[in-house]
Amino acid sequence: MTARFKGKVMVITGAAQGIGKRVAELAAAEGGRLLLVDIAEYVQGVAAELRDQGFEAVAVQADLETWAGAEQVMAEGHQRFGRIDILINNVGGTIWAQPYDHYSPTQIEKEIQRSLFPTLWCCRAVLPYMLQQKGGVIVNVSSVATRGLMRVPYGAAKGGVNAMTVNLAYEYAPHNIRVNATAPGGTEAPPRLTPRNAGTQSEQEKVWYQALIEQTKQNSFMSRYGTLDEQAEPILFLASDAASFMTGTIVPVAGGDLG
Ligand SMILES: NC(=O)c1ccc[n+]([C@@H]2O[C@H](COP(=O)([O-])OP(=O)(O)OC[C@H]3O[C@@H](n4cnc5c(N)ncnc54)[C@H](O)[C@@H]3O)[C@@H](O)[C@H]2O)c1
Repeated sequence: MTARFKGKVMVITGAAQGIGKRVAELAAAEGGRLLLVDIAEYVQGVAAELRDQGFEAVAVQADLETWAGAEQVMAEGHQRFGRIDILINNVGGTIWAQPYDHYSPTQIEKEIQRSLFPTLWCCRAVLPYMLQQKGGVIVNVSSVATRGLMRVPYGAAKGGVNAMTVNLAYEYAPHNIRVNATAPGGTEAPPRLTPRNAGTQSEQEKVWYQALIEQTKQNSFMSRYGTLDEQAEPILFLASDAASFMTGTIVPVAGGDLG
């Protein structure tokens, strides 16, 4: 087993399930000292399981759609570990799948809140610590849905994440801070404990969601969804010193779909 993250303090957001949880499991096994963040209470269980296996992980619950939540998380992380080496911004995900003319103004705002603001806030909140320690690494989890169907507001949010990634990388390269993103394609995961959308799908909504799935598969050369490991590994590569000459890069992880 390699230990790419031995002694590194890593903040991983949205770590209670899905891609974020898998990133946490792999990072812990490689020596990371983890602060796992999620709005869902069962992020505590993820951290407890990792500690049971002898790894270092603590969990904190926060709403990262708010500045207060992001600021509190970074302050807690810094207080507990004395530094923050790596931030992985993973919170996000489309809530609705429908043609744009069916989105209400409230839904549009909620998509932007979910898939842009946690990354905006967390980057802003971590920078003072990374500047103080004269270095750091940020990996944002974007999406190839910047070119997709049935999720215009989500695509707009992730386009914002891409722009942020490049601009932050440019601005903070002189401070030894690298910023990259992965752009995942469709990813198979166990059923979500926290669904993106708790409402029941109407027949029409099922048809629209199916159109999203078909488009995702068709745009991938490999005509399939990826696995959690296939998403987590590229995120961890960008977070590691092996990517020391990479910054401002959006890496599509979607079987050939470039987004
Ligand atoms: N799964 C896919 O097919 C796919 C495809 C492309 C991109 N992505 C991106 O990958 C990332 C992870 O996707 P996933 O499918 O594993 O997500 P998911 O929905 O399974 O998990 C997201 C986690 O974020 C947490 N969360 C939601 N709102 C929060 C908030 N306000 N504050 C704190 N935590 C909050 C949830 O509780 C959940 O644990 C997302 O950014 C998503 O946009 C996923």
